[in-house]
Amino acid sequence: MAVSLAPESQPMLDSIYRLFRDYFDRAEKKRRWSIRDDIPWQQCNRSLNPAIADVVETFCAVELYLPDYLSKLLPQVRANRGRAWFLANWGYEESKHSMALEDWLLKSGMRTDEQVADLHSEVFSHEWDLPYDSALGMLCMTTFQEVATQVHYANLRRVVQREGGCPALEQALLFVAVDEAAHADFFRRLLTLYLEHDRPATLEQIRHVANTFRMPAVYMLADSRKRVNEVRDLDVFNESIFYGSVVEPILRKLGVTRRELRQRRPRETVMPLGFTNMKP
Ligand SMILES: [Fe+2]
Ligand SMILES: [Fe+2]
Repeated sequence: MAVSLAPESQPMLDSIYRLFRDYFDRAEKKRRWSIRDDIPWQQCNRSLNPAIADVVETFCAVELYLPDYLSKLLPQVRANRGRAWFLANWGYEESKHSMALEDWLLKSGMRTDEQVADLHSEVFSHEWDLPYDSALGMLCMTTFQEVATQVHYANLRRVVQREGGCPALEQALLFVAVDEAAHADFFRRLLTLYLEHDRPATLEQIRHVANTFRMPAVYMLADSRKRVNEVRDLDVFNESIFYGSVVEPILRKLGVTRRELRQRRPRETVMPLGFTNMKP
């Protein structure tokens, strides 16, 4: 039986809005970047390992589901100004990620206009649905997702450097990874507020999401198994990275121990998850 979340009080809503304003003010001051002007597009490495372009295309596809993410997440929080305004800003930032990755695929010569158009058609032929039906469940999921996404981009950038480098792609991945780190930080802070507000209900959602998490949307693509294997083969992401760089840091920063997660549902196994759970 699910523990239902206590309704957010006005002071709680005020705290969330302040969290958003801090995030927004910092983003305006320190984190805005221009796809057109801040990436050295004339320095594309056109002979980079094609496997890297495959992974860039996969990440681009995940980012392209933005209309579904926004249209389904916003109604859950429309009366919660801090969360709703955050999503508006988040959507703007996420929209840049698919555009930057797509521009690199085209400018590097790794993909043609037709291939990119095919990718769009494939993405928009399937609608992404919310994997969790509560706003709190989705908050837990997006916290895991943003940390995982940051790790994906940072690791891919290291792989690009290892494979001979591409100044344009490295700069794009750096901008995107920094954005993802900021998203992850916001969601983690938000989750901390919810833990203070209603610890049992929030712990239950964290436990549920930790046991069932998978990266959004990749499994919806026709050749998802191949795409997941490419990510794994380049050492961009795998199960041990998921535990060590996503699950453990999140729980540590939230001040939640595995023991505390286990205590409430002793028969549940904790966190057998990640990329292995993706459906073909
Ligand atoms: Fe993104
Ligand atoms: Fe993000």
